[in-house]
Amino acid sequence: MRSLIDIQELSTAEIDELLKIAQDIINNPAKYSEMCKGKKLATLFFEPSTRTRLSFEAAMYELGGNVLSVSSAESSSAAKGESVADTAKTISNYADIIAMRHPKEGAPLVASMNATIPVINAGDGGHNHPTQTLADLCTIYCEKGRLDNMTVGLCGDLKFGRTVHSLIAAMARYENVKFVLISPVELKVPSYVKKDILKQKNIEYVQTTELEEVMPELDVLYMTRVQKERFFNEEDYLRLKDSYILTPEKLKNAKPDLSILHPLPRVNEIAVAIDDDPRACYFKQVYYGKIMRMSLILKALEVL
Ligand code: NCD
Repeated sequence: MRSLIDIQELSTAEIDELLKIAQDIINNPAKYSEMCKGKKLATLFFEPSTRTRLSFEAAMYELGGNVLSVSSAESSSAAKGESVADTAKTISNYADIIAMRHPKEGAPLVASMNATIPVINAGDGGHNHPTQTLADLCTIYCEKGRLDNMTVGLCGDLKFGRTVHSLIAAMARYENVKFVLISPVELKVPSYVKKDILKQKNIEYVQTTELEEVMPELDVLYMTRVQKERFFNEEDYLRLKDSYILTPEKLKNAKPDLSILHPLPRVNEIAVAIDDDPRACYFKQVYYGKIMRMSLILKALEVL
């Protein structure tokens, strides 16, 4: 099996298959409870994480497999100066699959080139986060019953938000999906994402700084946290961190069937008062994330 470093490596048919398996896991969890018996997942997380690491680990346990875990760079040989390549070669002797998060863009790719087992990118710097995108796609699909014909608003830190880059790459492949990119001028979507995906595929998009103005058009609103850890100076972060705070008031003109997503962790971008709004999907998204990681592990290990 192959590694998964970038969501673009999956064909639309493969994404559809992962979604189909996810539906079956939801409906028949018992059928899957021993499918990875005797297999081991190594989670190598060199950056903070709650959801993604535990989601991978819960996914493996729910498939009957086992988990080996490195939860910080400080507690691993990376602190002694070991290269990603050497770590990948080493872990290949212990586990059947690796999920890796790393602050350096491209580190999981390097790991995949040196490991003899599949490597899943669990987030590399401000670059990509394909398994969060699988969670996002499953959420949108389960909420809307489709992945095409919709207007998707992405709001917040579109520059450093890796989940945003991967989600645009994935949604851009479906028919008649339009993007509304809402961010401060300093945190716009990187030009490579616009050039290589949106412009290259001739996809309709607008860029704006005003969330409320575009609210009535949106079918999906994907809120994101300003990525503090990627800023070079604190002053800029403090100035930009509260650029968008979604409140019930701001949803007044939103569609009744809007789906509000957020990859989490939330800092201040969505008022807690919205959590009980039926349009809030961000905690369901956490559930779908685990299910899609189960689906991916099954395919990566060629169990299915
Ligand atoms: C995201 C990430 O790590 O990029 N979190 C996650 O994996 N669910 C989003 C974020 O940290 O803001």
